[in-house]
Amino acid sequence: MSTVVNDTKIPNNVNLAEDKKLQRALEKWLPNYLDWWREMGPEGFQEKDVWLRTAVDVGSDGWAHFDYVKMPDYRWGIFLEPPQPDAKVGFGDNYGRPAYQEVPGEFRNALRRIIVTQGDTEPASVEQQRQLGKTCPSLYDLRNLFQVNVEEGRHLWAMVYLLHGYFGRDGRDEADELLERRSGNPDKPRILEAFNQPCDDWLNFFAFTMFTDRDGKYQLSALAESGFEPLARTCQFMLTEEAHHMFVGDTGLGRVCRRTAQLMKQGDVRELGGIPLDIIQKYINFWFSYSLDLFGGEISSNSADFFAAGLKGRYKEREQYSEHSASNQNFTMTVVEDGQLKTREVPLRNALNEVLRGEYVKDCEKGLARWNKVLAGERASERLYLPNPRFHRHVGEFAGHAFDLEGNLISKEEFEKHKSEWLPTMEDREYVRSLMHPVFEPGKIANWIAPPAAGIKGKPFEFEYVRL
Ligand SMILES: [Fe+2]
Ligand SMILES: [Fe+2]
Repeated sequence: MSTVVNDTKIPNNVNLAEDKKLQRALEKWLPNYLDWWREMGPEGFQEKDVWLRTAVDVGSDGWAHFDYVKMPDYRWGIFLEPPQPDAKVGFGDNYGRPAYQEVPGEFRNALRRIIVTQGDTEPASVEQQRQLGKTCPSLYDLRNLFQVNVEEGRHLWAMVYLLHGYFGRDGRDEADELLERRSGNPDKPRILEAFNQPCDDWLNFFAFTMFTDRDGKYQLSALAESGFEPLARTCQFMLTEEAHHMFVGDTGLGRVCRRTAQLMKQGDVRELGGIPLDIIQKYINFWFSYSLDLFGGEISSNSADFFAAGLKGRYKEREQYSEHSASNQNFTMTVVEDGQLKTREVPLRNALNEVLRGEYVKDCEKGLARWNKVLAGERASERLYLPNPRFHRHVGEFAGHAFDLEGNLISKEEFEKHKSEWLPTMEDREYVRSLMHPVFEPGKIANWIAPPAAGIKGKPFEFEYVRL
């Protein structure tokens, strides 16, 4: 069984002290990481005490320790779920064979790419969110932002551990580059487009953690099934932290909806300093569509190869499916052919990105249902919705074509004509930004958002979550 070592520079449950070479490599990477954190982490709050949860173990009871911590002193560590005795490859052509403890040679490059791409998103989101603290709607929200930020930092550690531990020299180079790219920088951008989009107001932040972190949940879930055991165990533990990020987004948007609905009863939402529902809808359209792109092309030979090799499974592969080969089956999907929407039969293995995206969409719909329940509870008749998954796509079958919110194929001119009704405009963004005045007093909250139903870990909303 793995035990957690906390008294080293790098807390871990992977017996790092016994692998001197790996330990040295990671200890060399550590100061560069801290430099990156100080340069690109939350601006202006590095020396403040924040009431944070720190992973100290992976056990289901009590892996998390809550206390005041200054962010640069957060104990970023390497935590993997304990190994399963007799772990087997759970799907694909090698189904039932012993799980891989080393990287299968022919998939080395592909697997490295998967890990680098996942790893790149973690520091990217910290960079995107680094200015948000200055405009927090409450100390409770400020603390949640920082919690998300330090955990994204830990997720970077998780991926860097795999790169250093299993990919030799190239892995170390890739780990260095993860600290060199910058979100939104035209010369050295982050790998995926959603992670180069500005996330500079709290409505963006909540939509990002709702929709983009949720993509992370599905990618990690698919990798948590991996026959490459170190990757599976790493992702299993990351998922426990990821749940809080989605909670922040989901409840954050729910609280904005509640406040907006309350203001709607009093008069004009804008005049009363709230965020109108149509702007909330546009932010949903924006982040949902960018997040859908993160699943990759609808028809993908990579997805087929990864599944065949037992590297990336389906969502809850072991729990949800009884047939784990996914061969000799077809998947019916909609594609654009000769300027028209047509259905096409695709071998299931080539459609697995789309299968995973479908699971994600179902999960997002539940969030919409929760927000609509809030609206109904406040007796508003308006409802929010998800746009059709073909809307505003930049990757895959639908990229390069224009669709309306219902998913009807339209001309590019038509799209341009309606764009300002469907996606946030400059004015919308400026308006939202104009509401973002910080509220730093314990127990107080900005006018455009409702307080949470409860505080964190039994503490009241009024608790001093960040000591300023
Ligand atoms: Fe993450
Ligand atoms: Fe996250």
